[in-house]
Amino acid sequence: MIEKDFIPLAYQQEVNEAKITWKSPSNIALVKYWGKKANQIPANPSISFTLSACATTTTVEFEKKQNPSTDFDFDFFFEGRPKEDFKPKITAFFERTKAYLPFLESYYLKISSSNSFPHSSGIASSASGMAALALCLVDFERRLNPEISEAHFNRKASFLARLGSGSACRSIEGSLVQWGAHSGTKESSDLYGIRYTGEVHPNFNRFHDTILLVDKGQKQVSSTVGHGLMHDHPFSEQRFAQAHHNLSSLQSILASGDLKAFIQLVESEALTLHAMMMTSLPYFVLMKPNTLEIINRIWAFRQTSDTHLCFTLDAGANVHVLYPENEKKQVYRFIQDELLPFCEHGQHICDRIGFGAKKITTTLHT
Ligand code: DP6
Repeated sequence: MIEKDFIPLAYQQEVNEAKITWKSPSNIALVKYWGKKANQIPANPSISFTLSACATTTTVEFEKKQNPSTDFDFDFFFEGRPKEDFKPKITAFFERTKAYLPFLESYYLKISSSNSFPHSSGIASSASGMAALALCLVDFERRLNPEISEAHFNRKASFLARLGSGSACRSIEGSLVQWGAHSGTKESSDLYGIRYTGEVHPNFNRFHDTILLVDKGQKQVSSTVGHGLMHDHPFSEQRFAQAHHNLSSLQSILASGDLKAFIQLVESEALTLHAMMMTSLPYFVLMKPNTLEIINRIWAFRQTSDTHLCFTLDAGANVHVLYPENEKKQVYRFIQDELLPFCEHGQHICDRIGFGAKKITTTLHT
């Protein structure tokens, strides 16, 4: 599919008012997206586990404007309160998506959003937030053009979410989602994420992700700035080639269930991501001393126990500890005893692989 395929046909139905709610999960990348081209096109393909506990719930109330204008008319509420400082990001999102959602300028939108995880946890909500908003918008459009297929619905939601935040396109469906053109994956696209349909060994069923909140402060460098620094980066071409290769390797690992190979690939991806940050110009470090302390303890525990936990990182200091379902008791005890002392106030989130976004409600007035 190409961009133009997401421009809808003329709307067939009239809807004056509607209220639509979707809940979208967060996701954690195994092969990382780091570097992008114009229009939110990723520099390399990525794949993620869809999460379950960390999610954003968004309600959009639509009301047809009496006097249509070419402005975007909306209010944004976060956890029940107006949040003005988030509006420029949403306006930018509407600018990027209006060609694909021509109804946007004809309606007033009241957007209300809340997260399942604490606001100041250092966990980015842009992926789950943009995905939930995109789903509400496409769902509304489905009322105007009812014959849109389920497959097109999901693709368009992912396509739009990507225009809000790249990783958001992997927060529509579950439980493994791949984004970015990859020669070994039919149907893969730079424009949207697709549900991973390759073979997945039962070792990965119900996989756990315990998120250790090491540092809840504001990040020094945003992901968007970090992506930009991959232009003119001395190692960018090698990194992009490596991501293609790692994705192919991960596909075989997912099929075979080889947990040792999984650990090596996932940890290497996390450290490579941070190595790219440290070798950018300007360079920066998002890990904190406790991030390294946790990593070292995970390695030591793995050596002395028969477990298969590993870590991954996103663009921050927090650590995601991944482990199989049948090792959960032993690993979680280790986390409690040895890793939580390195988290701010012992804070952590017990999450696991999930199944994608869920519609909560729709009410319509035609
Ligand atoms: C390190 O999706 O947050 O988490 O597209 O600029 O919004 P923007 O960036 P974002 O980048 C996420 C980067 C990452 C890796 C990943 O999720 O693949």
